[in-house]
Amino acid sequence: MSQEVDLAALILAAGAGTRMKSSLPKVLFELCGRSMLEYVLDAAASLEPTRLVVVVGHKGQEVIDAVENRWSTAQHGLNLNFVWQKEQLGTAHAVMSAKPSLEGFQGDVVILYGDTPLLTGDVLREFYEVHKTLEADLTIMTAFLENPGYYGRIVRDCNQNVKKIVEARDLAPEEMNIKEINAGMYVVKSEILLDLLSRVGNNNAKKEYYLTDIVELAAQRDLKTATYMCQDTFVAEGVNDRYVLSEAESVLRIRILKDLMLSGVTIRDPEHTYVDFGVEVGLDTVIEPGSYLRGKTKIGPGCVVGPMSEIIDSSVGQGSRVWFSVVENSKIGSNVQVGPYSHLRSQTCLEDGVSVGNYAEIKNSTIGKGTKVHHHSYIGDSDVGCDVNIGAGTVTVNYDGARKYRTRIGDGSFIGCNSNLIAPITIGNRAYVAAGSTLTDDVPEDALAIARERQVLKEGWVVKKKQS
Ligand code: UD1
Ligand code: CA
Repeated sequence: MSQEVDLAALILAAGAGTRMKSSLPKVLFELCGRSMLEYVLDAAASLEPTRLVVVVGHKGQEVIDAVENRWSTAQHGLNLNFVWQKEQLGTAHAVMSAKPSLEGFQGDVVILYGDTPLLTGDVLREFYEVHKTLEADLTIMTAFLENPGYYGRIVRDCNQNVKKIVEARDLAPEEMNIKEINAGMYVVKSEILLDLLSRVGNNNAKKEYYLTDIVELAAQRDLKTATYMCQDTFVAEGVNDRYVLSEAESVLRIRILKDLMLSGVTIRDPEHTYVDFGVEVGLDTVIEPGSYLRGKTKIGPGCVVGPMSEIIDSSVGQGSRVWFSVVENSKIGSNVQVGPYSHLRSQTCLEDGVSVGNYAEIKNSTIGKGTKVHHHSYIGDSDVGCDVNIGAGTVTVNYDGARKYRTRIGDGSFIGCNSNLIAPITIGNRAYVAAGSTLTDDVPEDALAIARERQVLKEGWVVKKKQS
């Protein structure tokens, strides 16, 4: 049994991410709806460290704000702190900047980079177990890559002990064919870390203080360095440019879809289905190609989503269907039909059994049970009752150019085609509105309202015109 020791986790997120060529700090780039940094924070949190520290620098306040808004420390029950690295002088310098946050700490320090979003809690825990089991002073995560590209390489001596890590641009000719790379994840005993860091120099191609240099310093002092070779090479992927970002996002996307499929969701074409991290989908729901489920979306069981639908921050009950449509920040009940070609905008609530179809748009409205809204209608800022029939081309005229007003439509009423309901207006229960009406006044319940010109009929008019 390995002994329990205190654990601190440091995440380095101060770099500019120059190769991303962006005004956004690199660690805030998103994959499947979340920033890279949030994934790394999740992995770190799964170790339940007593201190969790993020080193920020380039656009650091933006990074802090993003984490505080989106990543809940309360949920993880952790003590999260930010420290500043004012100048980005390299990864060792970044860890040095975090020294004050390790004041009085004794134990193991896990160091991670904020640009490795494919790292999982499972892998990280296994890595840490290896460190403890081998009772190493320093453990590094490595991976074997056919094309090691820009990663630092693990140089071993003739006994296979780790001698040093050499950055790609500093490789000697005889080191060029090494395929074991540095994944950028380390566990070091705290007292050793601080001692080794103080000896790191910047005599290299980039004139930076490399954290990787602690490996050679450890070897020189006969400290015990262990390695953990990660079998899933994607885990080691460090995102430095937008091409790798897209590769990493594909891996994450397939991970998310696979989890859903194994939990009982049918995904017809995973290559063309996009589901954000954290989206929930119920049993036996089918997701058709070209569909996007984003943000805090929750789909119930037995639904069909797609083809070609985008659902953002919305919930859908059971047995509903959304096809060729866009749904934003809305709530859809059970056995509801949306589409084809409909747009539910913010704050729309469709109760059970509602049907919204061809080219209808709804915004900031509640639509009661069993009501039908089809064919080119616009319902905005409205409270529509149950079992209402909204005829083709109905428009709630909710905006006078300055203010918005509400429309109320009672249960069981019938709104004829091409009606304009000029808000504020109330249509009573079971009322009828004649087709083509432009209503400016309320309609009491059980009444018929007709608000249009009477038809004029001129018998034989065409014949007379031709004779004249
Ligand atoms: C680094 C490693 C390399 C490894 C690779 C794995 C070093 C010197 N090299 O290279 O061996 O194979 O990661 O992905 O460590 N950062 C700071 N402050 C700084 C510099 C960087 O906080 O002054 C942060 C960055 O925000 C980033 C992380 O450290 O999240 C790694 O920096 P990056 O420049 O991406 O290092 P690589 O060149 O990828
Ligand atoms: Ca990197």
